[in-house]
Amino acid sequence: MNVLIVLAHPEPQSFNGALARAAAKMFLSQGHAVRVCDLYAEKFAADEHARHFPQRKNPARFDVQTEQRFSAEREALPADVRQQIDDLLWADFVLLQFPLWWFGMPAILKGWMDRVFAYGALYTGSRRFHLGMCRGKRAMLSVTAGSPAQACAHDGQEGDTRLILWPIHYALHYLGFTVLEPGLIAGVRGGYSESEGAAQDRYLNAQLQAHVARLADLAAIGVIPFNTADDWDEQRKLRPNARVHSPFIRHSENLQLD
Ligand SMILES: Cc1cc2nc3c(=O)[nH]c(=O)nc-3n(C[C@H](O)[C@H](O)[C@H](O)COP(=O)(O)O)c2cc1C
Repeated sequence: MNVLIVLAHPEPQSFNGALARAAAKMFLSQGHAVRVCDLYAEKFAADEHARHFPQRKNPARFDVQTEQRFSAEREALPADVRQQIDDLLWADFVLLQFPLWWFGMPAILKGWMDRVFAYGALYTGSRRFHLGMCRGKRAMLSVTAGSPAQACAHDGQEGDTRLILWPIHYALHYLGFTVLEPGLIAGVRGGYSESEGAAQDRYLNAQLQAHVARLADLAAIGVIPFNTADDWDEQRKLRPNARVHSPFIRHSENLQLD
């Protein structure tokens, strides 16, 4: 299988950098082809901007989706975006590796999504969700958090971190990916050095080993359920008998709080 690892961290020696390298090493040892996209190292321009589109459909007013589609249809997307799209289309499994920053992904990864998940290239109005261009591919988030695991749980002070990841999971689902349950490593504080014997390093090394062992058997990792095409009515609303998989899409307007 072809594996694409996208790393969003400014420091190669970070724990996130170590997780990305360990995953790449493991997949290579299994005989898979691996590409690593280190967004900071590649100085990926994370801001979607008119300057990326020298040939415009409408030079008077910059509309992102219009220009993405116009460029995609003319094989004229920016070279950095085209490369990322080619890598995504090449991959059978995509792993996004990043630290939780302000209850979300680092800006460089959000900008990567804004630019690379381009209208006309990776989705259109008729090619999304179960008809998405990334159908048949799997994707997974690997996330680190500074807060301890208890604080990242459903009743923790940081908020339910798994829920916080829902918009990213849904974006991947939108493109057609089968989305695997994320890897979340909490309590990642301070530096990381593979040589020091400090308790934090021992904890992180154990987490790293467990993470790689989990990745080694992707088939054993759960798939995140989403509503299917049959669950929506003509107004794209949830049918009364459809199952609810997340508080983000539910029957009652009220949040069911206990
Ligand atoms: C800008 C910024 C925002 C952060 N926001 C959060 C947060 O919302 N929740 C959390 O648990 N940790 C947060 N942290 C801590 C990081 O998640 C933590 O430092 C990182 O996961 C450690 O991995 P690393 O050693 O690879 O950087 C934040 C750190 C930074 C720099």
